[in-house]
Amino acid sequence: MKRREFLSAAAASAYQASDKKIRLAVVGGGFGATFHWHEHPNCVVTAVTDLYAERRKRLRDQYKCDNVYESFEDLLKKRNDIDAVAVFSGAPDHVKHTKMCMERGLHVCCAVPACFSLEEAEQLRAVKEKTGLRYMMAESSYYRQAAIFARNTYQAGGFGEILYSEVEYYHDFDFEERLNKRPSLYYHPDGSNSWRQGMPPMHYPTHSLGFVVGVTGERIATVSCLGIEERAKAARLKSNPYKNALFNEVALLRTSKGHMVRHNECRQIAASEMERAQWYGTKGSLLMAKPGIHGDIWQDRYGKPRPAEAPKYWQSDLLPPAMRHDSGHGGSAVFICAEFINALIGSREPAVHVYDALAMTVPGIIAHQSALKNGELMKVPGFDRG
Ligand SMILES: NC(=O)c1ccc[n+]([C@@H]2O[C@H](COP(=O)([O-])OP(=O)(O)OC[C@H]3O[C@@H](n4cnc5c(N)ncnc54)[C@H](O)[C@@H]3O)[C@@H](O)[C@H]2O)c1
Repeated sequence: MKRREFLSAAAASAYQASDKKIRLAVVGGGFGATFHWHEHPNCVVTAVTDLYAERRKRLRDQYKCDNVYESFEDLLKKRNDIDAVAVFSGAPDHVKHTKMCMERGLHVCCAVPACFSLEEAEQLRAVKEKTGLRYMMAESSYYRQAAIFARNTYQAGGFGEILYSEVEYYHDFDFEERLNKRPSLYYHPDGSNSWRQGMPPMHYPTHSLGFVVGVTGERIATVSCLGIEERAKAARLKSNPYKNALFNEVALLRTSKGHMVRHNECRQIAASEMERAQWYGTKGSLLMAKPGIHGDIWQDRYGKPRPAEAPKYWQSDLLPPAMRHDSGHGGSAVFICAEFINALIGSREPAVHVYDALAMTVPGIIAHQSALKNGELMKVPGFDRG
């Protein structure tokens, strides 16, 4: 595989200039205030909202938008100049907020995960299919530069058949962070417990499964998962709303094409925050960088491992000129904004549409059920177009 072949594969969907404008509301001023909607020439941020004053200010400053509301409900009541909503509220609210939007005729770009239960998965698919509106899940793994590189390499045949992948997301949340005066995602700005406390790790599987579904398009057919209890803190941890004591979960998955995936979600472990994959194919393999240890590595079959260096896709014409810069989570933030707006302008489904979003989310829900049954092999229901 030559470098220019990777780049030309990426250039297939170059940004097309247009006069259209998408009027966007943004909900959630935590992670939701780190995007680049205002840099897209076809997007205008018309309203923003958060429940907390300091976060409303972040949204106002980031998106240069003075139409600020104290709740999403209030925003929806007062504005009728919105085409689409960027939903960056907490994970348990995603389906509720997506439905509130779609039932009012608004397209949605929603933070991960897509849903928290099979019932919600069904509701999400139903509202999307009933309304015909566009839905995109803002999965950063899909647009990490190494993941774009892997997807293009796969599509160009560079891997051959990917037989086995290893995917993982490590994020070591520490209860004592706040006591130690370090910022903690375990607490809301008012000091109350956030939805992250106790959440089963496999209910947040999309960063890892984005490296499978987002590269080969395969669906997960079966899963067996084991969990590790945080013994020292088990009693305290079990008092969380999810009644969950499993804080590290490890799964083996089989795809609908018979390939295998080892999938780790760990939240109480000595590891730096890391979303990573290794793809092993019949012709070649790609190992994503381990930050601080090594860069991306490519290996041809029977060859020796060598540095691979994924292109900086954000420099290419995939993006409008103003957005051709590095951005959060492996360069993904500008791509997520551009793809959603480009899809609305072009009247097409975005990447990471509702079916891919559910294929990245639902296997984790089943994996956690398997972990509660000590690794029972379970079937993963499909949520592709009915
Ligand atoms: N790499 C990634 O893709 C990535 C990284 C971080 C977070 N996330 C996702 O992004 C989302 C936001 O993450 P976060 O860390 O900012 O979470 P958070 O809980 O800190 O922030 C969510 C915000 O939504 C606001 N909100 C909730 N309901 C609202 C309502 N009815 N009206 C107005 N505002 C409302 C809250 O006030 C809060 O500030 C989460 O779903 C998370 O899963 C994804």
